[in-house]
Amino acid sequence: MASLIINEKKKKGTIAPEIYGHFSEHLGRCIYEGLYVGEESEIENVNGMRTDVVEALKELQVPVLRWPGGCFADEYHWKDGIGPKENRKKMINTHWGGVVEDNSFGTHEFMELCRQIGCKTYVNGNVGSGTVQEMSEWVEYMTFKGVSPMADQRKANGHEEPWTVDYFGVGNENWGCGGNMTPEYYANEYRRYQTYVRNYDENKRIAKICCGANSDDYHWTEGVMKTAFDHTPEEYHGFMDLLSLHYYTVPGTFAEKKSATEFNSFDWYETLHKAYFMETLLNRHSAIMDQYDPEKKIGMSVDEWGTWFLVEPGTNPGFLYQQNTVRDALVAGITLNIFNKHCDRVKLACIAQMINVLQAVILTDGEKMLKTPTYHVMHMFRHHQGAELLASELSGVGCVGEDGMDVPEITESVSEKDGIITITLNNASLTEAKDLEIRFAAKEAKELVEAKVVTAGDSHAFNSFEAPETVVEADFEGVKADGDGFKLTLPKASVVMLRVKA
Ligand code: AHR
Repeated sequence: MASLIINEKKKKGTIAPEIYGHFSEHLGRCIYEGLYVGEESEIENVNGMRTDVVEALKELQVPVLRWPGGCFADEYHWKDGIGPKENRKKMINTHWGGVVEDNSFGTHEFMELCRQIGCKTYVNGNVGSGTVQEMSEWVEYMTFKGVSPMADQRKANGHEEPWTVDYFGVGNENWGCGGNMTPEYYANEYRRYQTYVRNYDENKRIAKICCGANSDDYHWTEGVMKTAFDHTPEEYHGFMDLLSLHYYTVPGTFAEKKSATEFNSFDWYETLHKAYFMETLLNRHSAIMDQYDPEKKIGMSVDEWGTWFLVEPGTNPGFLYQQNTVRDALVAGITLNIFNKHCDRVKLACIAQMINVLQAVILTDGEKMLKTPTYHVMHMFRHHQGAELLASELSGVGCVGEDGMDVPEITESVSEKDGIITITLNNASLTEAKDLEIRFAAKEAKELVEAKVVTAGDSHAFNSFEAPETVVEADFEGVKADGDGFKLTLPKASVVMLRVKA
């Protein structure tokens, strides 16, 4: 039997709600159809945003949404997406599927979407093919209250009051699709561009996000941090609030990806092993950041994470539309527990992507919509948002896996908020259930408030439009009070959430 000891007296920092954030790009059917259908659509909508999707996202308590990309961001010219829709430029989305982008979803629509969802805004600027002036004017357009050419244009376009931009990304993947820069070159560009990301309202400071590494490119982190902090005043707050990290869980390789739904036992463990690599990435990138920022004033923004499989057969390869099984649920559970436990450094994260793209939480097919297993995991984990991380330790837990693709059989994180302790657990074993006892340092009996599980008899299970409730967040019956703790059996291949009174 494995044991989990929770020390409810030892608080280890606040879990930023924003690590439960999402990413939405002008890619495939994420924005168009997934989120935005236009006012004239027969699909029920409010100001063009589809009602069923917005409702589901509100239930998820989405804290922040990143837009417009991704690689699209460094080709996006924001002025194409404002003003009367019939006058907006049409262009080809060369990066993603070669389809027509009519710019009907632009800045005003993004802000309206975030208003309806009730989330913070993360706008990603264009360094790769945009100018400093263009970026600076976008910020002025969105956030300046007074009289100025950009603020006046916003008002003329129907929005009198400025919006709040909570986060602003100064470029995306500038080591690749965002301009193929070297770390030193980009860091100098970052210094220059961010200078003109002005804070027009000191009470609503924009958190600036510097482009960080791809996966284990530690050379990038070192080069960017070194150059960014060369000759900068000690008081750097406001110069760089966050450094991003992008990491996708790709079984196989990018060149030879594997199916989202057809996998064998090796593929299962390979996927979870690669998801668990996030732990190593956070430790190592953070250690480099520590050299320049020992007080951890700069957060990490893992603003693209998730699985990347082959697209569903018969779909546009440029649309990155994939199904989502119990395996994705485990990837989400493992990753989110890692983020929680790194809440001293990880302050923001965005799953890629919100709808119809990669590890989506929602899939749509015309007017139909379904919630994926990943949605249900994020729904269970929402209780961690803004909670205090508690010290927790597992014992009696080994690794499971095949051919070097191993992963801890159980992973966990524990937090407390409003007098309730939330415990989230993953059993990565494809075949074995696992007995677990939970003990608390205070040795006082605790009352179970809620227990939920995401799993399925067959780990290949997914939600289709014909059977949208195959994998859901179900009541978990297998937990029993045991003295001052609990005993439970974690089903194989499952994500479990328990809530107990503190
Ligand atoms: O999420 C899909 C793409 O992956 C993004 O556009 C890019 O930033 C990353 O390479």
